Amino acid sequence: MNIIDAPIAAETEYRHRVSVSDASPPLDKLNRPLRDLRLSVIDQCNFRCTYCMPRDTFGPDYPFLPSAQRLSFEQMVKLAKAFALLGVEKIRITGGEPLLRRGLEALIEQLAKLTTASGKPMELALTTNGSLLAAKARSLRDAGLNRVTVSLDAVDDAVFRRMSDVDMPVSRILDGIETARAVGLAPIKVNAVVERGVNDSQILPLVRQFKGSGVAVRFIEYMDVGGAGGWSNTKVITARETRQIVEAEFPLIPIVSPEQMGTAVTYRHADGKGDVGFIASVSQPFCGTCTRARVSADGQLYTCLFATQGTDLRPWLADNASVEQLATAVRGRWIQRDDRYSELRSAPRRPGSAKVYPTVRMSLVGG
Ligand code: GTP
Ligand code: 5AD
Ligand code: SF4
Ligand code: SF4
Repeated sequence: MNIIDAPIAAETEYRHRVSVSDASPPLDKLNRPLRDLRLSVIDQCNFRCTYCMPRDTFGPDYPFLPSAQRLSFEQMVKLAKAFALLGVEKIRITGGEPLLRRGLEALIEQLAKLTTASGKPMELALTTNGSLLAAKARSLRDAGLNRVTVSLDAVDDAVFRRMSDVDMPVSRILDGIETARAVGLAPIKVNAVVERGVNDSQILPLVRQFKGSGVAVRFIEYMDVGGAGGWSNTKVITARETRQIVEAEFPLIPIVSPEQMGTAVTYRHADGKGDVGFIASVSQPFCGTCTRARVSADGQLYTCLFATQGTDLRPWLADNASVEQLATAVRGRWIQRDDRYSELRSAPRRPGSAKVYPTVRMSLVGG
């Protein structure tokens, strides 16, 4: 089946696909609770991945957020507290490249003190390109970060340089991953976006590199998200195709979970030496279980990766508004939420409808 011709899930299915154990957190219009906050701390990055921040668009004159427009750490902690009240159990720090934000450890230290509405410690994860990880892993761990996910699309230097458009050897990222492992920022995941004709040669080398190391590689379908100006349907390698490439060398066993709640479908190497995941965001969208909210570094709340507009939370981030008032504002927006872009994208389009929607750029809202 063509990836854009897949059927849309019936809306009634949603009721059965999300189980809600706690009735108090807000549910959106499709019955999805708010569970994950993805907090972007900076919209800049030291890489220029061709699928995310192509250099011809994100050049020296690109109007990145001035630092004065970025939320302060105090405002971010207030945000996190409000989201915790609403049922959030995991906070992922994103960018751009979050390790470019100076003194990030001070924010992590504050976030690590938070508990969820049910009294558990808040799970704290961070997504990074790995370039500064060797230097920072220890201080991040000491500040209270639980785990990291590293974006790495190739193990071959030439392919890596071409895709990330940066003059850096892969060994620098591998050193970062090794340091993170050594200091216990586990479980470590490596995310690789697969683009046909660009890094499909790297699928098996990536699996070979990390098999048996305790690091799980996850392959992501190339999405038509903001920033991906060169996206086309033909450049997408589906998760199924990627898995078949992996299985030609490594037998895999699906890990069966009663309810698939995350982004990735995970398989285990048949010899037990690690996991490999597949994120089918284009061919098998997972909007039905999407419990993620994103807040950009300038305080805009986005209820979908493909949103065109955010909700400005800054009025409630001012000193005269309380955490509870901020939480009420977020709740009000969440209960209006009906986003399921990836599923709607799969619907057959009317002739003349736009191919790529003008969504918010990925580097502003995090992946
Ligand atoms: P874990 O807690 O480790 O499972 O993290 P995660 O899989 O929720 O987040 P991660 O940032 O590792 O997601 C990996 C990739 O999946 C992202 O970079 C995106 O490409 C894609 N992705 C994550 N969340 C969404 C989402 O809500 N919608 C879509 N369409 N893609 C997403
Ligand atoms: N398609 C899929 N994933 C993307 N990312 C950025 N742009 C895209 C895209 N067009 C994700 C990758 C990267 C993270 C920072 O954002 O997972 O690792
Ligand atoms: Fe930077 Fe990640 Fe985007 Fe690459 S994908 S340009 S590393 S934010
Ligand atoms: Fe969630 Fe939007 Fe992604 Fe669907 S497309 S999974 S609603 S962020």
